[in-house]
Amino acid sequence: MLSVTREYRQMQAIMSSMIDGVIICDLHGEVALSNQAAENLFLVRDGGLLGKRITDLMADDEIGMMIQEVLLKGNEVFSETTLHSSTQVYRVHVAAIKGENKDIEGAVAVFHDVTDARNFAQMRSDFVGNVSHELRTPLTSIKGFVETLLDGAMENSAICRRFLSIIDSETDRLSRLIEDLLTLSSIESKERIVHPQPVCIIRSMRGVMNMLGPQISDKKLHVEFVYPDGLSLVLADEDLLGQVLINLLDNAIKYTPPGGSIFVRSRMRDSRVITTISDTGVGIPPDSLPRVFERFYRVDKARSRNQGGTGLGLSIVKHIVESHGGEVFVESEIGKGSTFGVSFLAV
Ligand SMILES: Nc1ncnc2c1ncn2[C@@H]1O[C@H](COP(=O)(O)OP(=O)(O)OP(=O)(O)O)[C@@H](O)[C@H]1O
Ligand SMILES: [Mg+2]
Repeated sequence: MLSVTREYRQMQAIMSSMIDGVIICDLHGEVALSNQAAENLFLVRDGGLLGKRITDLMADDEIGMMIQEVLLKGNEVFSETTLHSSTQVYRVHVAAIKGENKDIEGAVAVFHDVTDARNFAQMRSDFVGNVSHELRTPLTSIKGFVETLLDGAMENSAICRRFLSIIDSETDRLSRLIEDLLTLSSIESKERIVHPQPVCIIRSMRGVMNMLGPQISDKKLHVEFVYPDGLSLVLADEDLLGQVLINLLDNAIKYTPPGGSIFVRSRMRDSRVITTISDTGVGIPPDSLPRVFERFYRVDKARSRNQGGTGLGLSIVKHIVESHGGEVFVESEIGKGSTFGVSFLAV
């Protein structure tokens, strides 16, 4: 008797430490034992599942039927299901419990949450699909122009030059895309070690403005940088901070018509330095606003592609800023302009 009690206690200890939900039912399909994870799944407490018929517990009949089948045939079945139409996905494994003479005494059902794995698999397949599509577009265009040239267009030197310059810019786009993907994956995989140190964001911003100077003057944009005297340094990896600022300023330039204005403002708030980049550009429609930081998301695909965009810039910005413990935000009004902001810890 003592050993039975001890075994029972040991089994209870094992079951209660399990992350997976476990339900054991008798030959009539009534719950004889369950663990806390299973109670959480069915939103009951303190042995609330005991004595309940398994078919009454399940809104959809699938698991009930699986258990009935196992109780009848003594086999083992697997299935994937959602419970109470929630977004969680469970892999359910039901097996028969057999006595000494191999007769069926009951069934055990184990519920393993596979939601993260399924979401991850879906994200990965979406990502591979997007990348392939993005790589194929410039490649198709390069191939088309090369074929036309070989078919005779290269005899005409003006056409030849024009096609070669398109091929040149498409090749640039391919290498930019690959570079962006590598940046993103190295930050995501934490392979790129972030070296935060005190950095002067004003100096970084000036460097970026100089780099993008030609584009700014080509479009005759008015750019103004406003910051208070004695602004604190920020704690950041200088190269990565530079990438954030380049991406934001590059967007402001790309999506603002000639003659427009761009305002860069840095200020302290609590223990952070907030930097915003506002433009008087095309703006972003409200339904696109929550999505602009997603990989490959572009409001106007054709327009962004024509400008050589990969749609990865803002997702790189978000990753870098968040890997520094900061935040990104955006406000915009269509036709009026947009404001993108990032925060970094002040030193
Ligand atoms: N300042 C802005 N004004 C209007 N739309 C913007 C602005 N910044 C970003 N967007 C929109 O958000 C989308 C995503 O921006 P993101 O920087 O990620 O990609 P991209 O600029 O298209 O390409 P890349 O940055 O790789 O050159 C853009 O395609 C554009 O539609
Ligand atoms: Mg961009």
